[in-house]
Amino acid sequence: PGKHIAVAGSVNVDLVFSLHRVPHAGETLAARGFTTHPGGKGGNQAAAAARLGCPTKLVAQVGREDPQSKMLREALQGCGVDTGLLKEVDGPCGTAVILLEEGGDNRIILHGGANMTAWQLDDAARAAISSAGAVLLQREIPERVNAEVAQLAQQAGVPVVLDAGGASTPLSPSLLRCLAVLSPNETELQGLTGMPTESEEEIVVAAQVLRGQGVDTVLVKLGARGSLLLDSEGNVWRQEACRVESVVDTTGAGDCFTAAFAVAILEGRPYREAMRFASAAAALCIQASGAMPSMPSRRQVDAALSAAAS
Ligand code: RIB
Repeated sequence: PGKHIAVAGSVNVDLVFSLHRVPHAGETLAARGFTTHPGGKGGNQAAAAARLGCPTKLVAQVGREDPQSKMLREALQGCGVDTGLLKEVDGPCGTAVILLEEGGDNRIILHGGANMTAWQLDDAARAAISSAGAVLLQREIPERVNAEVAQLAQQAGVPVVLDAGGASTPLSPSLLRCLAVLSPNETELQGLTGMPTESEEEIVVAAQVLRGQGVDTVLVKLGARGSLLLDSEGNVWRQEACRVESVVDTTGAGDCFTAAFAVAILEGRPYREAMRFASAAAALCIQASGAMPSMPSRRQVDAALSAAAS
């Protein structure tokens, strides 16, 4: 087996309300449905990488006395994630209230809980990071922890992929300089740079600014419009999204995309192929409900890619 992916990040209990539309101020609205799913951007990425066949270790925190911790741990293990580095700390688990509208769009309210309480990277976590083939980060844990993980990885020569999901504020210069890949969506790209990101030209200019700040490669997720990558030589790569008949739930699709891209790069695939692989994975993800439960298997992605090629 090849090297593992180490994911450091959040795990959340997702409370999902299905609605025809979101309520106005002062309005009470009956939901069409309610479900509880495992989620969190770190957990989702770990689940995606593991389901795609890559050995995956998750460095994360859940609440010691929160009964939902067991559900989260078991869900991750069910996806094949190594949860040996999942710590129990004081306080409740991270919780996300997700308002899911018809058509699959969502609005998320997050309480960080255990994801945000005192982190101590112990020796086992540090070893998992330094010996990984790639490290995946997002922005739902303290930035100080992301910076520590990224520096540790960089010192060990391990590429760091940071998904900008979870916050839209600029990243610290020292963290930016540690990143092999920074992957925002258009809104996050705007928040990171303070620049407009409406047209494709504007997106390329904003991505170039991030490269100027020390990031090697910028991978912008454009939802239904696909993705755009600016590589370390300044070349632009463009991938259309895979066509999907009916979108069920877009929650976790960005996490799936970034994790699948990282898995493909770790396997030595060129950018073009890695972007295509990630698009196929994300297209499968949005056709199922929930975040973590909708991460596709390797077999499903390979089947989708061969069907598209024939
Ligand atoms: O990216 C999707 C995730 O965002 C959800 O699983 C939710 O927990 C929030 O963190």
